[in-house]
Amino acid sequence: MSEPLLVVDDLRTYFSTEEGIVRAVDGISFTMEAGQRLGVVGESGSGKSVTALSVMGLIEPPAGEIVTGRLLFKGQNLLELDEDQMQEVRGGQIAMIFQDPMTALNPVYTIGDQLMETILLHQDVSRSEAREIAIQAIEDVQIPNASQRMMDYPHQYSGGMRQRIMIAMGLSCNPDLLIADEPTTALDVTTQAQIMDLMLQLAEDRGTAVMLITHDLGVVAGFCDDVHVMYAGGIVESGSIDDIYYNPQHPYTWGLLGSMTRLDDAQRQRLHSVRGAPPSVIDLPKGCRFRPRCDFATEICGEVLPALRDVGNPGQRAACHHAEELDLKSMIAGDETSEPVVSEGASS
Ligand SMILES: Nc1ncnc2c1ncn2[C@@H]1O[C@H](COP(=O)(O)OP(=O)(O)OP(=O)(O)O)[C@@H](O)[C@H]1O
Ligand SMILES: [Mg+2]
Repeated sequence: MSEPLLVVDDLRTYFSTEEGIVRAVDGISFTMEAGQRLGVVGESGSGKSVTALSVMGLIEPPAGEIVTGRLLFKGQNLLELDEDQMQEVRGGQIAMIFQDPMTALNPVYTIGDQLMETILLHQDVSRSEAREIAIQAIEDVQIPNASQRMMDYPHQYSGGMRQRIMIAMGLSCNPDLLIADEPTTALDVTTQAQIMDLMLQLAEDRGTAVMLITHDLGVVAGFCDDVHVMYAGGIVESGSIDDIYYNPQHPYTWGLLGSMTRLDDAQRQRLHSVRGAPPSVIDLPKGCRFRPRCDFATEICGEVLPALRDVGNPGQRAACHHAEELDLKSMIAGDETSEPVVSEGASS
């Protein structure tokens, strides 16, 4: 078997704050293959962006620190690279698109200058070659009059066009991995869909693996092969899109499905959204971190943090003591006869 593109092995990224240690990412492991499209989904604060920033080498010391773990990119441990080496990887081999393009674009330089700067930093080309590549990159993201638009400043572009430029910039050096962190949340629904389709198409043409971070399971549906569901710094469920949609094993995944934006009313009635709020990642509850919000919790859930284990379909994993006992699938299908069955104690 060929080497995975990315191996994240027991990654823990913490921040020291006045309130205490923030365990933003607390022991996650997963791999990505070349060309794979992976969705990372979870509520605000679950650790999605910190996961991405850890891979990008953008966790800022002294407050932020990767306390343990390995990040192997094409076999090389990114955590052993110095800043110069990491800078070559960043943008060249792993690129990231941020939620708000205005924070990533410099308002005082033209779009063309910023694109060319990225290209010159990572590719051994002349200025005129870099200019050609930049124009092509703008054309690739379907912005008309590319050579003209090179001379514009970021504020002269619409929000959707700026996000297209971020995609152009991200893909301009043909990275192996593109991390897109909520790339379309600031845009209207129609523009969101266009940009997602464009990103998907360009990534597919180039064989680029994509890690798509979003809080909306609906967004990953048409885009990803596999999904990791994150909760309070951990992965609580992972599987293929079909596993997650049609056979969820973790009550949190079930709840996320209920808060999806693309459901009809009948579907929404059968699902329920997750009540309450995520725990503070400073004072994590003992046992399962989802327990205070879970309708199926029993005694063991308050005692033991469940590990990810194989449940459901082949390749699917969930971190729930009661996965497989809970027939969430039938509940989604609207089968009234299947009440949740929990083996011990009463639900809290
Ligand atoms: N620089 C920092 N200093 C202190 N705490 C931080 C820092 N960056 C992130 N955190 C904390 O780490 C946790 C995870 O944050 P993260 O940004 O990864 O969440 P997220 O899943 O991306 O959420 P969102 O959907 O809102 O973007 C949060 O509790 C957040 O407050
Ligand atoms: Mg985030």
